[in-house]
Amino acid sequence: MAVELSPHIHKLPAKVGKPDFATDNAQFFHPRIDAPPRLRSKEKTMKDTIRQLIQQALTQLVNEGVLPEGLSPAIQVENARDKTHGDFASNIAMMLAKPAGMKPRDLAEKIIAALPADENVTKAEIAGPGFINFFQNTQALANRLEAALADEHLGVRKAGPVQRTVIDLSAPNLAKEMHVGHLRSTIIGDGVARVLEFLGDEVIRQNHVGDWGTQFGMLMAYLQENPITSDELSDLENFYRAAKQRFDESEEFADLARGLVVKLQAGDAECLGLWTKFKDISLSHCQKIYELLNVKLTMADVMGESAYNDDLINVVNDLKAAGMLVESNGAQCVFLDEFKNADGDPLPVIIVKADGGYLYATTDLAAVRYRSGTLKADRALYFVDQRQALHFQQVFAVARKAGFVTHPMEMEHMGFGTMNGADGRPFKTRDGGTVKLVDLLIEAEDRAFKLVQEKNPDLPVEALKEIAKVVGIDSVKYADLSKHRASDYSFNFDLMLNFEGNTAPYLLYAYTRAAGVFRKLEKDFSEVQGQIVLEAELEQELGTKLAQFGEVLNGVAEKGTPHILCTYLYDLASLFSSFYENCPILKAETPDQMQSRLRLTELTRRTLKQGLELLGLKVLEQM
Ligand code: ARG
Repeated sequence: MAVELSPHIHKLPAKVGKPDFATDNAQFFHPRIDAPPRLRSKEKTMKDTIRQLIQQALTQLVNEGVLPEGLSPAIQVENARDKTHGDFASNIAMMLAKPAGMKPRDLAEKIIAALPADENVTKAEIAGPGFINFFQNTQALANRLEAALADEHLGVRKAGPVQRTVIDLSAPNLAKEMHVGHLRSTIIGDGVARVLEFLGDEVIRQNHVGDWGTQFGMLMAYLQENPITSDELSDLENFYRAAKQRFDESEEFADLARGLVVKLQAGDAECLGLWTKFKDISLSHCQKIYELLNVKLTMADVMGESAYNDDLINVVNDLKAAGMLVESNGAQCVFLDEFKNADGDPLPVIIVKADGGYLYATTDLAAVRYRSGTLKADRALYFVDQRQALHFQQVFAVARKAGFVTHPMEMEHMGFGTMNGADGRPFKTRDGGTVKLVDLLIEAEDRAFKLVQEKNPDLPVEALKEIAKVVGIDSVKYADLSKHRASDYSFNFDLMLNFEGNTAPYLLYAYTRAAGVFRKLEKDFSEVQGQIVLEAELEQELGTKLAQFGEVLNGVAEKGTPHILCTYLYDLASLFSSFYENCPILKAETPDQMQSRLRLTELTRRTLKQGLELLGLKVLEQM
């Protein structure tokens, strides 16, 4: 049985490193941040209320001797699927039946009898083998919705403690232009960052770009031969190809490239100049994509591999001092018992290659130390391809063992699957090359243009273009974000650009409908009086869904899974459509009813807008 008492216990890392062992070598990278994240009151949802009621009932049953002492179960409360049997359900009686030595239904009866009265709950009853179903008070629900309407955060609070959270996202290797493989890390990471920020976390975005390594010698050599400006270098891909061609065909050029790498690593000023120039051009390419994608990343968030160069020697020395480095075939490695190959032999984490070069893992170790020791993050989330899972397990384990995690910091690899083509095979151009992200996004806009033109043949081209931009980009992002990040998915323009189903166009349309109500009313919501009264069943269902926004966002924050929010918004939009079509708003029967429905519409509109914004999607007032 789980021993969690509170549903939102803040997990501390298994081991907290010794404070003094790892020095703050990395602190020259970034100003030290010492202020604690600002505090906000915690969210109390209907589920929390019910959990507390159950907890009180259990305590009473322990006092009465019905239940043994020392039980501290994690009390689970779920949203009921069939509203005729209640709004929430708990399996607590079934979980405790065995230790209590009772039949689940008998225990359920005792728990129900011991439940304290609460204004939010009208009744509780036994269902099936021993579930307890709870019926919420619709007036209490309506009050919650009013409170959400009156709050700029829609009544949403973080369930757990407010934290300082590092989000490792995007992180392309700068030698080439961003391609489709970079989409997922960029937008999933951005979505989760936005949600955490909304919940009050202090989010620090870290764009760990690959800006170091031997391939840069080739690019620098080419830049030296062909002094070009960023405007001229519009196509990085061609630049890379041309440099590679020179490298392959000319021994002289190859020597020049190799020599530049050596000089660069030695800190030669001219080489650093060329490298910086290349990096700037390359990053400005990324920046354009981020803007196109409506992703909140700026140059200030770039903390590339090269930023850790000077600290790598310290990583090595500290590992050595900790007695963790072992030489194997000339390389310096760490072996951990928990990582073995198929034959049961320990797997090495290579820290320094036989030729003296450092590795990807070495840099990530320095980054862990910086994020914990200097940034003082409580949590670090890595949005990186699932195929790097072993790498992160190893890095996290080595970092903990070496005491690099000086400030208690949770580290989680938020892995994601591959984006395939519509045929389910890896996404490629016709001739088998990688697809540039910018090309994909332009095609999305073109296709969206045709779609909106079909729907609005009379709109001027300029207006259509503006709409198409939003619809096209939103569709690409939403199609990705709405899948569980851990699974692979097939990229399919036809499916994502559809007004039916769980798509961006469907949600955008639902939003314009809600916004359209106030246009037709010709009044601003601030002029709407009255209060929410949940009469019709569709109103109650919509109201119940609206009240779940907070727990959904907390789920995204905890698990790093924006698809939960997508599913929620889709359900919300569907319920709103039913409400809109079946419960007359502007032609309501009484002024009170009209006001109540306008208020529900406004809360839906704001929730949809906020939810879409947290996914990094733009909305349209009309389409
Ligand atoms: N540049 C790497 C790649 O393209 C991703 C870096 C992810 N972040 C990290 N801290 N390792 O695979």
